Amino acid sequence: MSNDGRVPEPLDAALEALRPLLCDLDQLVRAVAAGRRRAASPAHLRADLRPVDLKTGRHLQVTTTDGRTPTTTNHGPPGMAAAVDALLAEPFGTWFVETLDRVVQLRVTKRGEAQVHTSGTSRRVVQPTPRAHDRERHRLLDPGDPLFDALGADADKRRQVDAFLRQLEPMVVHAVQAARGQGRPVHVLDLGCGNAYLTFAAHRFLTERVGDELGVHTVGIDQRPDMVARNARLAAELGLDGLAFGVGEIATADPGPAPVDLVLALHACDTATDDALARAVQWQTPLALAAPCCHHDIQRRLQANRRAGTEIPEPYQAIWRHRILGQRFADVLTDALRADVLRVVGFEVDVVEFVDSRHTPRNALLRVRRRPGGLPEQEYRRRVTELNDLTRQWSVRPRLAELLQDRFDELATLGASAPSQDRS
Ligand SMILES: C[S@@+](CC[C@H](N)C(=O)[O-])C[C@H]1O[C@@H](n2cnc3c(N)ncnc32)[C@H](O)[C@@H]1O
Repeated sequence: MSNDGRVPEPLDAALEALRPLLCDLDQLVRAVAAGRRRAASPAHLRADLRPVDLKTGRHLQVTTTDGRTPTTTNHGPPGMAAAVDALLAEPFGTWFVETLDRVVQLRVTKRGEAQVHTSGTSRRVVQPTPRAHDRERHRLLDPGDPLFDALGADADKRRQVDAFLRQLEPMVVHAVQAARGQGRPVHVLDLGCGNAYLTFAAHRFLTERVGDELGVHTVGIDQRPDMVARNARLAAELGLDGLAFGVGEIATADPGPAPVDLVLALHACDTATDDALARAVQWQTPLALAAPCCHHDIQRRLQANRRAGTEIPEPYQAIWRHRILGQRFADVLTDALRADVLRVVGFEVDVVEFVDSRHTPRNALLRVRRRPGGLPEQEYRRRVTELNDLTRQWSVRPRLAELLQDRFDELATLGASAPSQDRS
């Protein structure tokens, strides 16, 4: 494996030579397998490997992704070789392996041979220890926290989570007030928790903020049993008290002991964000932070309207002439409608950019606070009028309004005006 990559080598032997590098956890820095060979499809779009130090010793962490959802597994010495062999057997097109003393890049040619380039430039290889300025920027979460190694969060996800917690920090007081008054743990739900980077980080952050005298009870909910099982296992391995995970649909999941003090939702897909916000309203949660993910619902409704002959209102055709602008406009309309619906049902909302778009294009955050005593009548009327005008103009009924219909009906019996019952 010492050539410069110009002479192709037999593939099996070249892959076999990677094996000891991947299994040497004292030397391995990181490895990535990606791409595919001619006429073949690996089981994963990409696999990232790196050593992590868990309570039970050093493990090889493998994060595979299908392009949408990452799956992370940790392998101790007994299962590690088998995990490495399984990945080497996948028809990936390239391997990149970085150790403390070399970088090996393997590319599979069209003829099924290996082109291997090895550079011995150990000086270039940086240990994955955080640099001082990174640590400073990530004040809220220590990037060296073993939590993140165990979770396998990449740099973008860490930044998103850190930025999310920065938004939470000045508002924590609203979430902990009731718990303090009642001398009970703060009850937090992370809805659509996925791989639970945010759940773990928020639990750690809140536990540090609130202290032991109250404690924090955090529950991550996701519809995927595999993720929930993996998260629960990691929480047990890391010895984190008060952190639990449950399988379920956001709309119906059991929140555990009432009341709920804080609802979090980071990139819950499409209308799952509406489900999360609706539950925060139903539970009368004092604080909810939701960063929406993909927005398809309003887009679908607007497209259905057009197919049914309902014209885009003047002068917005100029936007709808361009697909990308139409999609972006639908995104904006979705979050504006969400904010309006929440205001009508008595919550204060502001929408902010919580992280630079370099780290995720889904970087809007709805900060939602329950308004003690609800809305004064005059403001309620104003809000209802605004919401009705917007939904009528676009002939859409937002999903969140559908989910909160009961609450609208209840408000209608109390006030003279009510949000429109129009549906599309
Ligand atoms: C894009 S991932 C985000 C995960 C995590 N919050 C994060 O930011 O890393 C969305 C997650 O929401 C979950 N999800 C989507 N719709 C859901 C629903 N209706 N009920 C429960 N979980 C849902 C998916 O299974 C997935 O794990």
